Amino acid sequence: MEQAQQCFQGLAKVCSAGIAQGKVLANQAQQAAESAKKDYQGASSSGVVFKMPKDGESLFQSITEAPPDPILNTAIAFKNDTDPRKVNLGIGAYRTEEGKPWVLPVVVKAEEQMLRETGKTVDKEYIPIDGLPSLKECTQRLIFGEKKPNVASSQALSGTGALRIVGEFMNQFLGIKKIYYSDPTWGNHPTIFQKSGMVAETYPYWDAQKKGLRFDDMLNHMKNAPDGSVYLLHPCAHNPTGVDPSMAQWQQILDVCLKKKHIPIMDSAYQGYATGSLENDRKSIELFYNSGMEFFVCQSFAKNLGLYGERIGMVHVVCKNEERARVVLSQMKMVIRPMYSSPPCHGAHLVSIILNDPSMYKQWVSELKIMSSRILESRSNLRSLLEKKKTPGTWNHVTDQIGMFSFTGLSPEQCEILIKEHHIYLLKSGRISLAGINKANVEYVANAINDVVTRKSAKL
Ligand SMILES: Cc1ncc(COP(=O)(O)O)c(C=O)c1O
Repeated sequence: MEQAQQCFQGLAKVCSAGIAQGKVLANQAQQAAESAKKDYQGASSSGVVFKMPKDGESLFQSITEAPPDPILNTAIAFKNDTDPRKVNLGIGAYRTEEGKPWVLPVVVKAEEQMLRETGKTVDKEYIPIDGLPSLKECTQRLIFGEKKPNVASSQALSGTGALRIVGEFMNQFLGIKKIYYSDPTWGNHPTIFQKSGMVAETYPYWDAQKKGLRFDDMLNHMKNAPDGSVYLLHPCAHNPTGVDPSMAQWQQILDVCLKKKHIPIMDSAYQGYATGSLENDRKSIELFYNSGMEFFVCQSFAKNLGLYGERIGMVHVVCKNEERARVVLSQMKMVIRPMYSSPPCHGAHLVSIILNDPSMYKQWVSELKIMSSRILESRSNLRSLLEKKKTPGTWNHVTDQIGMFSFTGLSPEQCEILIKEHHIYLLKSGRISLAGINKANVEYVANAINDVVTRKSAKL
């Protein structure tokens, strides 16, 4: 009996301990659920707090409409304008003398070759995470002059995708939280890096008064920045100013980068457009490579091969040695995999066919020359007309600047009048794309610029 009583008491103790423990566990579970709920409903990484929609309300009730992209919006406004005199100087894409987009004949040839091979040597299978293997060597040759075993190269979704991979990689693997970009720069630059979790700040670049480069200020910024700062540089044909450092200035930029262990990202979106020569336009990149430093290169084929919509580019990471390049590439693939799994193959095949076939490469070089020469001609025609009209101010910058764009120095108000009254579409920053100018419209454009400039100076 006594034994049974002891047994019962023991059991009761175990039970109540069990109940107490159960209560603790239940409490813990409830707390976890509450915190999970908080996590689920709290601020997301974008800082937005989830709000349950009321009955009948849209889940998307609290979202406000985003402002239109200024560049793409210009294109839409141009399209909707019914005035026959309209001119589009806003878009960063090549146009022919007739104002039409141009599919390069060499691209058509490569397409035809690809079509003949489709189903035979070319298929539509997934390509590797880091892209078509045959792209690596030929794109390295194009941007560095030769194959580079110490460079980790991966296909990317054009220049934008390459920049985004670099941003993510820097953040995830190097713990980099800040980047400096030129003032001004391509509008998407700061946002790409902000979306990669980095703070983006400007360094001085454009001198509005002299319509040139603030080189000393730029260099001083680099000298005074903390060691190991990241600088986003345009190796040629700076967008939007069309003003590049000279080779002697690039050397000084490199010297500061080496001394301060800064990390450059060379964003090459216009190789071949600055001077008309692919070799000349990679000189700054070769200079950096030959110094032995480690840096990033983003390479786009949108402009120089006219493959805008194919989204084909490369990211190259110059490393100390081959072993580091292998490791970097392996992790770069880990960055890419959850973003878009693997890149598209169509544009990749086209670039690979053209760069790996000597006769097609030669044809491309001559077609690139046609594009860059036409732009040079537009520059000189516009300048000489403005000078002939004695339009107030100096206009040498129109021909001094290089690449696809000119930073005209026109004020936002003057740009507004050009758009509203003259149906000439450009960015409010005063950037024009010379590709939109041709022999048929240059006089009209020059007259309109003359009108808005003389109006302004008359007011002054
Ligand atoms: C300086 C610069 N970088 C990168 C890009 C990205 O171009 P895409 O993504 O079309 O290759 C552009 C496009 O205008 C650009 O001007």
